[in-house]
Amino acid sequence: MRKTTTARAAGASGKTGRIPAQPGPRGVPLGMLVAPAQPGAKDATADQPGPEDIMVGTVSADAGEQAGHGAVIPGAGPATRPGERATVRLRDVGPDDPPRYAPEWLELREGADAVARAPELLDPLRIRLANLPGKSGVVIHDLGCGTGSMGRWLAPRLDGAQHWILHDRDPYLLHFAAVASPRAAADGSRVTVETRRGDVARLTPDALVGASLVTASALLDVLTREEVDALVTACVGAGCPALLTLSVAGRVELTPADPMDAEIADAFNAHQRRDGLLGPDAVTVTCEAFAAHGATVRVHPSAWRLGPDDLALTAEWLRGWVGAAVEERPELKERADRYLRERLAACAAGELTVLVHHSDLLALARPTGGTS
Ligand SMILES: C[S@@+](CC[C@H](N)C(=O)[O-])C[C@H]1O[C@@H](n2cnc3c(N)ncnc32)[C@H](O)[C@@H]1O
Repeated sequence: MRKTTTARAAGASGKTGRIPAQPGPRGVPLGMLVAPAQPGAKDATADQPGPEDIMVGTVSADAGEQAGHGAVIPGAGPATRPGERATVRLRDVGPDDPPRYAPEWLELREGADAVARAPELLDPLRIRLANLPGKSGVVIHDLGCGTGSMGRWLAPRLDGAQHWILHDRDPYLLHFAAVASPRAAADGSRVTVETRRGDVARLTPDALVGASLVTASALLDVLTREEVDALVTACVGAGCPALLTLSVAGRVELTPADPMDAEIADAFNAHQRRDGLLGPDAVTVTCEAFAAHGATVRVHPSAWRLGPDDLALTAEWLRGWVGAAVEERPELKERADRYLRERLAACAAGELTVLVHHSDLLALARPTGGTS
């Protein structure tokens, strides 16, 4: 069965620069997304697509079932509830295409991400950027930018003019990244943004010519070893540092504990590693790849610490975490349903805290002198 969304993204707050909580028409299930008319707008600050540039899209309401496995995003959440789709495939997109991330999920996690990110890595990064030869500003490539959360966090923490090049394969997310892009650096210098639609797993060193910094957030764990190798080779080839944050570490601590916690965690981690994705191995593999090229690598923990102030995020995370575990091990379903119900009840009562371990990584490759 196909459904057609005919309303425009009236909630898209292009004028205020906010990511909409509900970018589609009201009442449309999470993930029934529309696509920008002109994906990958060149200079987002000069020519930002407004809400009126959003095209009506046709989506398949049963795309998740058609795909068989497309309803759960690797990396926990967004989650599905009856009648909702965490991801959706646009018309003419095949069943083997990758899942899409709902901007609502990325928005929900942005605050916890910001608190979790490791500020300890910023000073070594600032020193490296300050020592770049002949710089009048820096060029930062954010890979798998989603709605641009990394830029909103990092740009105001660095001095000097910055030009951000935001990469993602999803034109819809690029649109929101452009609309809600940061405007000013820590010292008030100008921040400009452009978007590039494409597969970051196929990034070549050429694509990073002139780069001062490469960033990514919540990306490494959804890549394969070969893709990480390519990314590392591109960064090292460009001689620029890489700040690669919020990769899942595969460890979760729930308080109070439940006997089923470890079983769900194991199944979730197995789900993350399916089809050769790195999942919890991402940081180790990336460190090894950089080290093999002679880069210096620092890793710092960046856990989410979710408590009574994070009820909505915790609930969505729980649904995604348990949902992925059951998708990996369907025999868990009955017990996992009970587990999830009890965990959600504890969460709603403010009686659950969750520590979701992540790692941030800063790799300092030898400068090549090729930066502009
Ligand atoms: C978990 S989201 C993180 C988004 C954003 N960095 C953040 O921290 O909110 C992963 C993002 O990477 C993008 N992505 C994943 N694999 C990609 C690939 N091979 N090429 C381009 N984008 C990719 C997805 O479309 C999505 O926007």
